[in-house]
Amino acid sequence: MSEPDSDELSKIYKDSGRIRVTLAGKKFEKIKIKASEDREQFWGEQAKNLIWFKDWERVLDWKNPPFAKWFVGGKLNASVNCLDKHIDSGIKNKAAIIWENENGETKTLTYFQLYHFVNKFANALKTLGIKSGDRVIIYLPTIPEIVIAMLACSRIGATHVVVFSGFSAKALSDRARDADSKIIITADGTFRRGKFIELKKIVDEAVPSIPSIEHVIVVKRTSNDIRMNDIDVWWHKVIERAESFCEPEMLDSTHPLYILYTSGTTGKPKGVLHSTGGYLTYLYATAKWVFDYKSTDIFFCTADIGWVTGHSYMVYAPLMHGVTELMYEGTPEYPQPDRYWALVEKHGVTVLYTTPTALRMYMKFGNSIPSSFDLSSLRLLGTVGEPINPDVWTWYFKTIGKENCPIIDTWWQTETGGIMISACTGLDSDIPMKPGSGTFPVPGIDASIVNENGEPVAPGKKGYLVIKKPWPGMLMTLWKDDLKYQNTYWERFSGVYYSGDYALSDTDGYFWLLGRSDDVLKVAGHRLGTMELESAFVSHKSVAEAAITSRPDEKKGETIIAYLILRTDYLESDQLRQELIDHIRNTVGPIATPEEIYFVNKLPKTRSGKIMRRLLKSISTGEEVTGDITTLEDNSSIEEIRQAYDNTHKANR
Ligand code: WTA
Repeated sequence: MSEPDSDELSKIYKDSGRIRVTLAGKKFEKIKIKASEDREQFWGEQAKNLIWFKDWERVLDWKNPPFAKWFVGGKLNASVNCLDKHIDSGIKNKAAIIWENENGETKTLTYFQLYHFVNKFANALKTLGIKSGDRVIIYLPTIPEIVIAMLACSRIGATHVVVFSGFSAKALSDRARDADSKIIITADGTFRRGKFIELKKIVDEAVPSIPSIEHVIVVKRTSNDIRMNDIDVWWHKVIERAESFCEPEMLDSTHPLYILYTSGTTGKPKGVLHSTGGYLTYLYATAKWVFDYKSTDIFFCTADIGWVTGHSYMVYAPLMHGVTELMYEGTPEYPQPDRYWALVEKHGVTVLYTTPTALRMYMKFGNSIPSSFDLSSLRLLGTVGEPINPDVWTWYFKTIGKENCPIIDTWWQTETGGIMISACTGLDSDIPMKPGSGTFPVPGIDASIVNENGEPVAPGKKGYLVIKKPWPGMLMTLWKDDLKYQNTYWERFSGVYYSGDYALSDTDGYFWLLGRSDDVLKVAGHRLGTMELESAFVSHKSVAEAAITSRPDEKKGETIIAYLILRTDYLESDQLRQELIDHIRNTVGPIATPEEIYFVNKLPKTRSGKIMRRLLKSISTGEEVTGDITTLEDNSSIEEIRQAYDNTHKANR
């Protein structure tokens, strides 16, 4: 990501014009002031929007930072807040989920039907020995059963651990072992770009290496014959036998609702642990402020439920608000590059929440495709997951929203639980949008941009984005690793949360998100760690050492570039290159497919043995190597890498 300095920013404004539509304003300012005057009281007010079995005694216990306890003493249940609260109201028979797949098949579940299945499945889990506090792995595609499974876990106090269904058997096994789960919930398979991916087979491959697994529950979606092992049970069979009401557990506000593994700067993915009361309070509030949910909305979030956006804004937030959501199992471009627009027209979508990667892909296919659909139902357009370039923002605004829909560029992370920086269309009045800016932190969030020493930087200067005060949606800790939680997020700048992102604010105070400042990549919006990928390469028999970097990419945002040193008895070849690509797809998943692989004899390392990634990045992006290289162990490594890059560039493509 290039760094827009103040001049660049003014050019962006000039090019696109300051687009003015109704956005957050007076009410927003008022709420922000209220939040900053008495933060705890403010969040206490927000928590009152949830249903509690028992009120909390204290809004925040921050006696032992950075371990925050929100709404201490309060008791609640997530499934009650998403379902039970609606079934005696007019929402009972409203569609909760409209699901469609890439073949155009659809299914609708009303709030009552969802409630019914969640109760039944919660009882089924109990029958299979799952208790409050147990972890349950969910390895399902984006189908209604994934929501049923998550809410059923929350009903009985089990902590769900959703593993993205595009991850490999190894990635699944690593996560299930770390979470020490007794059960995996999966399906016979999922269709992706017309191909049937046999998920159950991947689970079968993983299970022998997960000693804690007692059962695998399988959703049957096709008439294909699949092998069922002794520990396997069918979803429909266990549901059929289960009682139709399950008493919800009265859980502490700090009860762990879920673990979601995400990539960081070390080789092993981190288990981000979220609470119940704080997390739900934060989602309820941010969803209302940002999306301004209306009772007539059809909310279409295109994320996979395996990522945090799916957890927060496809499961918990819309259901708590009684909104109808559209759930799509498929890719944006298959069978034609028109899927999102066709879905908007067919279902009358009012709010679309998607990624810059998907928009860049659609932009490439031109305006005639979206223009051939009736998109007039749309009232709000959102993006998430990566920085949005101003030209993509402008295309979204003009071609999709016909200049009638505000754009909300929402910045947040798996760790933050919910949206942290975004325009708040639910808090009315008039603030100009700026293409490519997330605008401001939401009420109650105290964000700042600081230099290496933790001092605030001047407007227009790039710095590290930090959050200065705890907020209810924040992660409680990293699963089984309190120390890493402390070190990763709260040590870099003492006492404040370090996001790992670069940002700047302009003279109007708008925030501009500028990508990661650490070794985390965002490839097509998916979060991957460079060290995680390096470990995956080194696990192949031919690789002695690996260094990963990325290059900006027009379509995916970033692509993966690998520099590898082979073991002495291996020679580089196209066949080996292909074998390594397959290896990465099998050990991590297809999302980690490298764009380019270079075989080299040396890597640029410091005298203390650390790879100087900055240099790799400069070479891989065709830039001059600048800055201090005095700590480099062997200067010739730069030349060698550059040679390898130049020589093999063509062959690689
Ligand atoms: C990036 C996704 C720019 C950022 C919800 C962050 C963004 C990482 C934006 C978290 C945005 C997310 N503009 N960058 N609007 N939203 N990011 O955990 O680098 O998958 O740290 O959560 O995505 O990715 P994660």
